[in-house]
Amino acid sequence: MNGMPAVNPAALQEAAKRNLWLHFTRHSSYAGSEIPIIVRGEGQYVFDQHGKRYLDGLAGLFVSQIGHGRTDVAEAGARQAGELAYFPLWSYAHPRAVELAERLAGFAPGDLNRVFFTTSGSEAVESAWKLAKQYFRLTGEPGRYKVLSRHIAYHGTTHGALAVTGLPGIKMPFEPLPPGGVRVPNTNFYRAPAFVADDVTAFGAWAADEIERAILREGPESVAAVYLEPVQNSGGCFPPPPGYFGRVRAICDKYGVLMVSDEVICAFGRLGHIFGCERYGYTPDIITFAKGVTSGYSPLGGMVVSDRLMEPYLKDPNTFLHGITFAGHPVSCAVALANLDVFEKEDLLGNVRANEGAFRATLEKLYDLPIVGDVRGDGYFYGIEMVKDKATRETFSDDESERLLRGFLSHALFDAGLICRADDRGDPVIQLSPPLTCTQEHFDEIEQILRSVLSDAWTHI
Ligand SMILES: Cc1ncc(COP(=O)(O)O)c(C=O)c1O
Repeated sequence: MNGMPAVNPAALQEAAKRNLWLHFTRHSSYAGSEIPIIVRGEGQYVFDQHGKRYLDGLAGLFVSQIGHGRTDVAEAGARQAGELAYFPLWSYAHPRAVELAERLAGFAPGDLNRVFFTTSGSEAVESAWKLAKQYFRLTGEPGRYKVLSRHIAYHGTTHGALAVTGLPGIKMPFEPLPPGGVRVPNTNFYRAPAFVADDVTAFGAWAADEIERAILREGPESVAAVYLEPVQNSGGCFPPPPGYFGRVRAICDKYGVLMVSDEVICAFGRLGHIFGCERYGYTPDIITFAKGVTSGYSPLGGMVVSDRLMEPYLKDPNTFLHGITFAGHPVSCAVALANLDVFEKEDLLGNVRANEGAFRATLEKLYDLPIVGDVRGDGYFYGIEMVKDKATRETFSDDESERLLRGFLSHALFDAGLICRADDRGDPVIQLSPPLTCTQEHFDEIEQILRSVLSDAWTHI
């Protein structure tokens, strides 16, 4: 309003409350308290406006793979801005986009050799849908437009990405969405239907076959793609059951449906590999990525696409009728290349693979608390499901969940110095996704804070 930047902590707080609109945030919850303002980061930690330190157990928002405060990566961006700050990828290329595309194609499996950049994960998800729809028009199957995805899966917030998302609560206010989003079961084995609850492989086969049943129900000639995360984030880190992805791949091939591996969270080391599909041994047709590609030092997203899908677009006069001004921004591409250099020099993939067992074992110590029902995940990506009754796996009522998560846990964890996510979009979970540089001392710190806060939480139900 007054046009002057806020200069001191009190003024900054006041301006934050007056002028800034936070994302997915109940602003009323800050009516009687401060909005946390994070001012700087260093390694695995960030610091607020009062100088208080927090362990960043969520890597910001599944983003800061290499950790905070890396001036070498920041300087790569600054150098690029001095050389060529901006040029579009509309009919032109620039060196950093070419180099990054080549490098990403080198990491991707099979014939996934073509990279289309975006600025975010939602745009990547949306771009993959548009690519698929136009591809099928170019190849004589114009009726294919539907996309399958899993219950409770989050794939982004723009209208198209929201239509792929499987969370009814965040879709309802924006209906009608683009038509064609179809849901299939997720791979939450902790909540598996009774007839497959004792056998994870049978559960995986059932969940994959549900995809086939959905394709047949919808009519294969109308289905363009199925979107799956390697480990599903929303709902609390559901890893794939053994055999699941192989079976889904075969089903997609049988019906000519494209398989999109949405790796906006699961790529760039989160699961100990550059791309998550490598960990589970499948080759999708498209990988969507964002977040960790730059570790957040600049925004970037995109998709890696198979040569087969590019083929019709190479024929005259065909054009993919899609573009985004800032996609593949030179500064972001330079930063992504520097980020990947850090991965290599510091063997971050090796660090995740060597330490993920210790991370899991440390979190599993929490099983002695009555509220901890399930600890699940892979790599540096875990969800802890909280339950009212461990023996029956009974979950909390909506009111209890509201009191527990919003009324207590979110604030208490933050006050105790841990940034993580307490979420009840599925059943109530705490999610952890720390920087890939973390080691045992950080796992211990996470466990100790969780132990103290979760013990307290039990008394607040
Ligand atoms: C799997 C998945 N897809 C897409 C998105 C959307 O990404 P963005 O917030 O960059 O638009 C997210 C964001 O968390 C995600 O987790």
